[in-house]
Amino acid sequence: MVPRHVAIVMDGNGRWAKKRFMPRLVGHKFGMDALVQLVDHCAERGIEFLTVYAFSSENWRRPDEEVSGLMDLVLVGVAKYLQRLAERGVRIRMVGDRSAVSERVRQAWDQSEQTTAHNTRITLTVAFNYGGRWDILQACQRALREGTAPEALTEDHLARHMALAHAPDPDLFIRTGGELRVSNFLLWQLAYSEFYFTDCLWPDFNAAELDKALAAFAGRDRRFGGVAPAATGAGS
Ligand code: FPP
Repeated sequence: MVPRHVAIVMDGNGRWAKKRFMPRLVGHKFGMDALVQLVDHCAERGIEFLTVYAFSSENWRRPDEEVSGLMDLVLVGVAKYLQRLAERGVRIRMVGDRSAVSERVRQAWDQSEQTTAHNTRITLTVAFNYGGRWDILQACQRALREGTAPEALTEDHLARHMALAHAPDPDLFIRTGGELRVSNFLLWQLAYSEFYFTDCLWPDFNAAELDKALAAFAGRDRRFGGVAPAATGAGS
């Protein structure tokens, strides 16, 4: 079975570049190229939602040059790839804390969403200046601001205020680059996702690597806390 929604931590760009004696930013640039190609591979396989972690709330701790390089990459990405993605039926959403990014990045953010708003082939959500804890907090704040009473605040209600309210919860979470952690990505939404970790560095994550992840997912037994048919013992 093909997952409807795949979420990815695109890790390993820096190491990919270092192995080639190139600056880390070159790794991010190749990482962006890999992402643009992967969107097509996902759409071809029937995946409806792809969500990627492009800049985390914690990435501000990186050297200034890398932070501004990643910001500039949003502008470069829009200039270089927006038209192509739009023509291929990709709907782009950007989620994260807009307040800390520059006006130019916010404009690119709006432009990519507006240009592709009516596309339906696949939804690419780019998490930028995003953190899972920030997301839960901002959803609570929005609900409270609306005047929601504490006892009226349900999981469904909160989910409607989360950054990914436009998508079902991810079925498959992928992290490249060999680390085995979630790093404050979609903390709320990953509750029942299947996890797949690979040593493959992000710029090398191609159609064949995607197919390996999809094959692993197809072999998983998803029980959502219940029990497998004719099985005993606690579900998970
Ligand atoms: C983690 O690799 C990667 C990032 C922090 C940035 C991911 C960004 C892209 C793939 C480009 C797409 C960008 C936009 C703006 C859409 P790392 O730097 O932590 O790698 P390392 O673990 O090898 O050092």
